[in-house]
Amino acid sequence: MKKALLSLTALCLLAGTAEARTWAEIKKSGTIKIGTEGAFPPFNMMKGTQLTGFEVELANALAKQLGLKVQWVTQPFDGLLLGLQQDRFDFVIASHGITPERQRAVDFANPHYCTGGAIVSMKGGPTKAADLKGKIVAVQVGTTYLTGVQKIPGAKVLVFPKDTDAQTALLAGKAAVWVGDKFTGLDLVKAQKGKLQQGALLFTEKIGMAVKKGNTSVLKELNAALAKAQSSGTYAKISRSYFGEDIRCK
Ligand code: ARG
Repeated sequence: MKKALLSLTALCLLAGTAEARTWAEIKKSGTIKIGTEGAFPPFNMMKGTQLTGFEVELANALAKQLGLKVQWVTQPFDGLLLGLQQDRFDFVIASHGITPERQRAVDFANPHYCTGGAIVSMKGGPTKAADLKGKIVAVQVGTTYLTGVQKIPGAKVLVFPKDTDAQTALLAGKAAVWVGDKFTGLDLVKAQKGKLQQGALLFTEKIGMAVKKGNTSVLKELNAALAKAQSSGTYAKISRSYFGEDIRCK
C-alpha cells in the first residue's frame, strides 16, 4: 500500500500536477528550500564542506529578513530550473541570466546583479569574437555563454558540465579561450598572476532568482526582501566583500 502511494506521488510530480509551496505554506513551515549549484565561484561555491558565495550569503540574508531558516539543495546547474518545476526547492539562486526562453519556463525576481559574458585567454591569445574563428572555446553547459558563443561564426565550442572545468581546459591548453561571467573572469585572471587576460564582453545580462511559474506569492516576498536588503546596506556590504564594489543593476 505504502509503495502504491509512493509511486502515485512520483507520478504526480512527473505530470507536473504537484503544486509549488505558497508563501503562507513556507512561512508556516519556518524553513525555505533554496536550490543552487555550489560550483560557480564567487557566486555559489563550496569552501571545504561549507556552501558559500555572494548569492549564498545574499539568499541567507533575505531568508533571515523573512524570519525563515534555510535548507540548501545543490545540484548540477543544467537541471536547476527543471528541479524548480518538480518542486525540489522553493526558489533557485544560481546566476541565471533573465532570458525570454527561460521566462517561458519559470518566473524571475527582479535582478540581484548585472553582469556579462566575457572572453578570457592566455596572454597573447584571442580577445574578441572576431578572433575566435577556428578556435576552441570552452563554456559551461546550459548557460547563456553557450548560446552566446554558438552565434560566433567558426568558433569550435567545447562544452563542460561545470564552469570550473571549462576554466581548467583553458589553463591546460585544451581550449584557446574560456567564456564565462565577467566577475568570475576577473578573479581567475588575478589568481593566475599574469598568465591570463580578460578580453571583450560578448553580451550583458541581468541575473535573477527564479520561482516556479505562477508562484506569485513567493516572488512578491523575494522582491520585497531584495529591495529591503538593497536599501538597508545589507546587499552593498555583501557585494563589496566579494567584488570590492556594489554589483546591483544600475
Ligand atoms: N549567467 C550564466 C547563465 O545565465 C551562467 C550561470 C551559471 N551558473 C552556475 N551556477 N553555474 O547561463
